[in-house]
Amino acid sequence: MAKLLVTGGAGFIGSNFIHYWLKTHLQDEIINLDKLTYAGNLENLKDIEKNPNYKLVVGDITNVDIVGSLVKDCDAVVHLAAESHVDRSIMDAAEFIRTNVLGTQILLDAVKQYDKRFHHVSTDEVFGALTLESKNKFNENTPYHPTSPYAASKAASDHLVRAFIYTHKIAATISNCSNNFGPYQFPEKFIPLAVTNLLVGKKIPVYGDGLYVRDWLFVEDHCRGIDLILEKGRIGETYCLGGMTSEINNLEVIKKILKILGESEDKIELVKDRPGHDRRYAINWSKAKQELGYQPQFDFDRYLEKTVQWYQQNKNWWQNIKSGSYKDYYEKQYQ
Ligand code: NAD
Ligand code: TYD
Repeated sequence: MAKLLVTGGAGFIGSNFIHYWLKTHLQDEIINLDKLTYAGNLENLKDIEKNPNYKLVVGDITNVDIVGSLVKDCDAVVHLAAESHVDRSIMDAAEFIRTNVLGTQILLDAVKQYDKRFHHVSTDEVFGALTLESKNKFNENTPYHPTSPYAASKAASDHLVRAFIYTHKIAATISNCSNNFGPYQFPEKFIPLAVTNLLVGKKIPVYGDGLYVRDWLFVEDHCRGIDLILEKGRIGETYCLGGMTSEINNLEVIKKILKILGESEDKIELVKDRPGHDRRYAINWSKAKQELGYQPQFDFDRYLEKTVQWYQQNKNWWQNIKSGSYKDYYEKQYQ
């Protein structure tokens, strides 16, 4: 039986990871350390909040005392807490540096002090952009070239983890994954934004020419990838995790969503491009396959349809976000 400290467990991937872990590791305990920023939503964890193997601690990863006491008392840390939205980082980078860089350093100090296993969840955005023409994909040896403040803050956190591995010999691993999709994703991100806009009759804002390519990874495949790294990953190593169907451009994604919802292409609105918009991401996950047996199981078309259905069936979940009332849940349940 192990005790896992998960940071950022009230966010999109964190809450999916906690659901996944409690289902697949029945003996384990999870402590969720989350600050409950705008992206932290306890409604994501409603169904497991009374599970005796789960406990929430509301707190900030930059708080040395909270982090120290929780790290001391766990077996391993899975670090997901971050500011995660590129557009917000373009408007103001300060929180990204504080949480993603300083927060990671504070966790690393505690991991070093108490000699714990650490897994750092990062992004393929640290590698910058690929061109549409090239056949290349990102892999573990791709040089870092972050272009957005978000990506730069994640790159800095990856460098810190590597420095602590090299200098302090901490037992850490890193994963760099592609764009996740699935249930509980905050509707500022592309897929849930598109679906929820359509469900209230609005158009979908598509940046620039819409020909930006992403490598979509269903969130449960990502959770299994992290599990495999914790179980079999070599200490000190980085693993790239990508999706099954791989590369699709934004207009193609939207056309698939329009088809699923029986809507017309009039709902597409090409809008001003994001500054510094990365043209293409794609992941070569062969190292994770060879060393860990990682193999995505959820193909894009089928699980995009299931994801759209989830947002259709869970209107209250995203309507509470749009109205702001999701923040009352903590007050009602925990105060
Ligand atoms: P998210 O924005 O949905 O959730 C982030 C969570 O972290 C929230 O619950 C928030 O309250 C919490 N948090 C933020 N600052 C905190 C702080 N200072 N202290 C404690 N908790 C804090 O993010 P996500 O999409 O679930 O991403 C999780 C991780 O995966 C991030 O590290 C992100 O960089 C990485 N990642 C995400 C994607 C993606 O497609 N979503 C892709 C690659 C990597
Ligand atoms: P996003 O979900 O923000 O993830 P990331 O920027 O980390 O890849 O965006 C995915 C793609 O969708 C990206 O190419 C930007 C584009 N996009 C739009 O075209 N319109 C939007 O309103 C948003 C939020 C994103």
